[in-house]
Amino acid sequence: MMRLDKLLSDAGVGTRSQVKEYIRKGQVSVNGEICKKPEQKIREETDQICWGGQPVAYARYQYYLLHKPQGVITATEDPREKTVMDLLSGVNTAHLAPVGRLDKDTEGLLLLTNDGKLAHRLLSPKSHVDKVYLVRTARPVSARALAALEQGVDIGDEKPTLPARASLNEAGELLLTIREGRYHQVKRMLQAVGNEVIYLKRLSFGSLKLPEDLEAGKFRALTDEEREKLRHDVS
Ligand code: URA
Repeated sequence: MMRLDKLLSDAGVGTRSQVKEYIRKGQVSVNGEICKKPEQKIREETDQICWGGQPVAYARYQYYLLHKPQGVITATEDPREKTVMDLLSGVNTAHLAPVGRLDKDTEGLLLLTNDGKLAHRLLSPKSHVDKVYLVRTARPVSARALAALEQGVDIGDEKPTLPARASLNEAGELLLTIREGRYHQVKRMLQAVGNEVIYLKRLSFGSLKLPEDLEAGKFRALTDEEREKLRHDVS
């Protein structure tokens, strides 16, 4: 159960004070009856809410896949910098948070959700969710470096990195699959093998893949199938 005014503002109808006004003006109905009480408790699974005669689509949980461009920071707000939230135009971002973070100069797949439980499980080191990165490096990556990255390297933390998968594509770019999400992990791993990252892009996060036709800066809601697969990743 939740309050009518909260449900409407979470659904993106307006701010809390705007929706209170709409309710008091008699623009909102619950199961066909005008309701003028913002505090009215709603069974969000079953009650039918209309605003101005139109049904309000309410989903308790929202899941968005963003192709984060370079130059934008992974934060919910910042006094100076543009954040990933600024890119979600038309979305009520009030309760959304990015799942993990990509550096300002990293592009690629970023998941944003208000489903804190799923986010927590996806980020837990115990869950071992694979993240695949495309890495361009200052110098060619040697076979020895590939082997070291796969085995685990000392990046100055208490423990070396967990075993990873590392291979080169035809263009000589590194494809690195890691299961952890330590601070600046990929950059530090390449440093540990005497190299330097000059470009970094996340291609996937668990079963979720960055769609080839989703341009940098664009986003879309996850499909039902993508959501189910993500849940499966951590079950
Ligand atoms: N590793 C990094 O070094 N940076 C990122 O943005 C993501 C992984």
